[in-house]
Amino acid sequence: MTDYPVDMSVKPEIEAFFDEDTNTISYIVKDPTSDACAIVDSVMDIDYAAGRITYDHADALIARIKEMGCKLEWIIETHVHADHLSAAPYIQEKLGGKIGVGSKILVVQNTFGKVFNEGTEFQRDGSQFDALFEDGDTYMIGNMQAVAIYTPGHTPACMVHVVGDAAFVGDTLFMPDGGSARADFPGGDAGTLYDSIQKVLALPDDMRLFMCHDYAPGGREIQWETTVGEEKANNIHVGQGKSREEFIKFRTERDAQLGMPRLIIPSLQVNMRAGEIPTDKDGRPMLKVPVNGL
Ligand SMILES: [Fe+2]
Repeated sequence: MTDYPVDMSVKPEIEAFFDEDTNTISYIVKDPTSDACAIVDSVMDIDYAAGRITYDHADALIARIKEMGCKLEWIIETHVHADHLSAAPYIQEKLGGKIGVGSKILVVQNTFGKVFNEGTEFQRDGSQFDALFEDGDTYMIGNMQAVAIYTPGHTPACMVHVVGDAAFVGDTLFMPDGGSARADFPGGDAGTLYDSIQKVLALPDDMRLFMCHDYAPGGREIQWETTVGEEKANNIHVGQGKSREEFIKFRTERDAQLGMPRLIIPSLQVNMRAGEIPTDKDGRPMLKVPVNGL
């Protein structure tokens, strides 16, 4: 395993923004020693039945960053989400910052470029993003060094981003009582997800972990923050040293029972373009529905 540069003495200030419609948590990550910040996993609002896009969630992030007087340096996507749309380009237009995602986005663009029968105008080279991260790549948020850790399994382009004593786990892990994310999307793989989760669990026990989603199992309050130690002890899918074989069996059986996420069709088309809405031949914003294509 790569020895990732981790500095637990750096403690970013983190604010969470929960989106009730998609159970997504977006984060503002601020450097305590400068005015620099980053956003992780923003959300663009969609009323899919009406084909209507709005920006209430993104506007709340933008307003907060302006209120803090911060400079937005990065807009990070932990992966190509299948359950909500990214607001990255909208936020970038208002505040600047670079949009970053894992370099395996090319695999995702190839796979779903076919599913949605995209023409050659849809570039499958990741050029819609400003930065494509490889495993172990580092970048700066003010004076804080962040490192991207390649964690495929849920999707081929998933990355966990570690900033000081905080890690943004995307959909590798849920809260301990939520377990893990599904691994049955095209390019997903349960065994690969298990291996990626072990990379996260190898981080220091007191590393803070921030979830991308929470579904409040058992009707508890929504939660989004835990630690590596908590996950190792209590995660219902991988805690207490559960084996790779056990995990693959459980995950595969469970995934076979899951329906498609409500917003997967619009989410993939938008998110594989870094959050841009596709247009038709006349330049009008337009989404497709491939019949029996997923
Ligand atoms: Fe996801």
